[in-house]
Amino acid sequence: MDQGIIVDFHSHILPGADHGASSTEESLQILRAAKAAGITAIAATPHFYPHRHHVGQFLERRDTALERVRQKAIDEGLPKIVPGAEVLLCPGLDSMKGLERLCLRGTNVLLLEMPFVMAEHTDEMFDTIDRLITERNFVIYIAHPNRYPDETIDRVLEMSVRLQLNIEDLAHLRERGRIKRWVKEGRVHAVGSDVHHDPDIYKKLAKVTSLVEPLIDQINHPLRGVLRTDLG
Ligand SMILES: [Fe+2]
Repeated sequence: MDQGIIVDFHSHILPGADHGASSTEESLQILRAAKAAGITAIAATPHFYPHRHHVGQFLERRDTALERVRQKAIDEGLPKIVPGAEVLLCPGLDSMKGLERLCLRGTNVLLLEMPFVMAEHTDEMFDTIDRLITERNFVIYIAHPNRYPDETIDRVLEMSVRLQLNIEDLAHLRERGRIKRWVKEGRVHAVGSDVHHDPDIYKKLAKVTSLVEPLIDQINHPLRGVLRTDLG
């Protein structure tokens, strides 16, 4: 295990890239709070909505935002930022051109959020996840699975998806029943802040550490791999 690398797998810290941080200073404030909590690397995952966004334009906006904050973060010794995206799952996503460019940089990891409307959790949606894994060879992470009903998550867990939990949800007692089960069954591979604006979210990290500690070897593993290579 990489004791020295603690990853936040999901965040909205890039200024102006989506409805998360809106200024460079706000990004830096979040990064400072993350550092204070012991985080050493953050996946920057702005929302990507396939029906609204074009991959090329999205990446241009994201990378411009990254450039606004990257050097300052390095100068201040803040957590390393690894760009990615939080992609809204929709039927047929597997045939979208350029989808692989939305993976966390240097990996084949794709972070997906599910449709907000349960009526959209159709067979076609589940078939799309299956094709992303079996035909496109993506490693699929489902963001905050606890937002969706059991029947949806039970179906995705029949496939080799991995779950990404938010710090906030881990800290939430009401949710701990099935979250504990997912952790115990080895389905949780990443923890993230999902921070948009509030740097105080990182204060809850210490509270949930005991829950994720038993599985720390697999938690956030792909990103730790990238960082190992990257950091030399
Ligand atoms: Fe998010």
